[in-house]
Amino acid sequence: MCGIVGYVGHQDAAPLLLEGLSRLEYRGYDSAGLVIRRDGELRATKRQGKLERLRSALAERPLAGAGCGLGHTRWATHGAPSKRNAHPVLDSFKRLALIHNGIIENFLELKQGLSAEGWRFDTDTDTEVVANLISSRLEAGGSLLAAVRSAVQAIEGMYAIAVISTGSEHDEIVAARHGPPLLLGYGDGETYLASDAAALLEHTRDFTFLENGDIARLTSRGAVIWDRRGEAAERPRQRLLWDPVQIEKGGYKHFMLKEIHEQAQALQDTFSGRVDFERQEVDLSSLGPLAEPGVLAGIERIHLLACGTSWHAALVGKFFIEQLVRIPVEVDYGSEYRYRDPIVDHRVLALGISQSGETADTLSAMTAARDRGGRLATISNVVGSEATRIAEGVVYTHAGPEIGVASTKAFTSQLAALYLFALYLRQARGLVVDAEHLDPLAHLPQAVAEALAREAQITEIARNHFRAENFLYLGRGLDYPIALEGALKLKEISYIHAEGYPAGEMKHGPIALIDANLPVVALVTGAREVADKVTSNIHEVKARDGIVIALTDRDPGQLMGLADEIITVPHVSHYLQPIVDVVPLQLLAYQIGVKRGCDVDQPRNLAKSVTVE
Ligand code: F6R
Repeated sequence: MCGIVGYVGHQDAAPLLLEGLSRLEYRGYDSAGLVIRRDGELRATKRQGKLERLRSALAERPLAGAGCGLGHTRWATHGAPSKRNAHPVLDSFKRLALIHNGIIENFLELKQGLSAEGWRFDTDTDTEVVANLISSRLEAGGSLLAAVRSAVQAIEGMYAIAVISTGSEHDEIVAARHGPPLLLGYGDGETYLASDAAALLEHTRDFTFLENGDIARLTSRGAVIWDRRGEAAERPRQRLLWDPVQIEKGGYKHFMLKEIHEQAQALQDTFSGRVDFERQEVDLSSLGPLAEPGVLAGIERIHLLACGTSWHAALVGKFFIEQLVRIPVEVDYGSEYRYRDPIVDHRVLALGISQSGETADTLSAMTAARDRGGRLATISNVVGSEATRIAEGVVYTHAGPEIGVASTKAFTSQLAALYLFALYLRQARGLVVDAEHLDPLAHLPQAVAEALAREAQITEIARNHFRAENFLYLGRGLDYPIALEGALKLKEISYIHAEGYPAGEMKHGPIALIDANLPVVALVTGAREVADKVTSNIHEVKARDGIVIALTDRDPGQLMGLADEIITVPHVSHYLQPIVDVVPLQLLAYQIGVKRGCDVDQPRNLAKSVTVE
């Protein structure tokens, strides 16, 4: 949800910023822009659309010879995606340039006040209000730092901003954070800032994560940070071990395809070191205070909080926890939770599930649970992300950076982490965890690799059905959330309307949709009683001329002559089956998206981290 990057140091800033933006484009691709400070002047180039257009513009007219600058890639909130509304945004007097991720809630009120004082507005953005506000404070005299500090006091909303100005004596960037992520990176005689470490991994592994309310001043010699009270703040430096090679496509045509294929490894990495197969134990000591004796044993209810694909993982997690631990679990959308005034006390454990650890709705829900007295944990893929900082304990998914906007390997890793979490909870409550629970994990990566090997067949199925305008996905039990996830993947990647439904509910409405043009993806896996019922639902579809694409872990002979297409997947344990089942659905969405000529890594209107509510 907007990517921001900044540099001050001895190298040429523009190419560095452009490269950083190429790692952040998944956060938004409505427009992109760069500004540099050269000889005390600001020079900016912006383009509507993807970064490629900015890159071409800069190839024609480079912004060279400056050691200080800012870059931005936008996901539009206020103001249409256009060159005019692209960042960096300059103030009326062109004495400062600002980039912003977030939403300024009181921007109209501030704009009215500034307009009455004669400030001009050339864009429709809320960002320009902040630029003019800081400029108005600069006019009163004082440093850029003092102006930013004073301006942010008047702002309500969420922001990560960075500002450079013509008036600074030396190259400097002033940054402030309240909500969206902002981290600083350190090199030799150079300092960076970015929304995400991925932008900087080529240059540094040493980062500081700014806290909410922090203001930082960056120069080539490093950074000084102040907290919300204006007091000097020590923020720890952290070393991130992500390999920069992981953020390349590595020979694949798209990040999404690469990430689908990385799942066997990501799953292995997620349970490695946490499962002792010999002693039959799960170790989640990363849960910190929650892992202390007696704490988890005292939990009586669990609230799983998430959005989108992570919410689908939560639905599977409910099965895991309720079946393995027998604790009641509620699953909530992050955006809904706090508005239903949930019943929470110290016996409730709220678990926020978020790949990015940045999703504003999930964070708000987590905070709501904590403020009502609940205990708070998170499952996240990003070290140091906000979710990991507000939670008492973390279970990291070790999926590595996920760049494709549609979540794939993060989802299956979340399922593995939820399974470990359920087993750990079971263990903490004195229930037996044994080989029956743990051994299937050891076979899981191989089973996922076998599911991936169905790619050629799935490509063929995609070729047969990519022109369909609607799809229905049906599943029961643990496969119902997988049906939802399959449908979500298809709609976001191919723009085909798709619905996921509990198979048994089809007869209560969606059956009216079925005709000879509607492919129905039916998940026929899991326990016999469930799979047999889905088979009956397939008969109901076929009786109405529907097209059936069946996915099964059973003998495909039972579906021959009934389903139009049959994808077989390896059979694993009851709990781990959904992890295998989703893989062909990801490949199907991907192949259909490619056949329809869609930009699968950057689908329209989406952004990877949704840092606004
Ligand atoms: C869909 C997708 C989104 C995210 C959702 C939550 O493919 O990626 O639905 O799952 O925006 O994101 P996180 O997990 O980062 O909180």
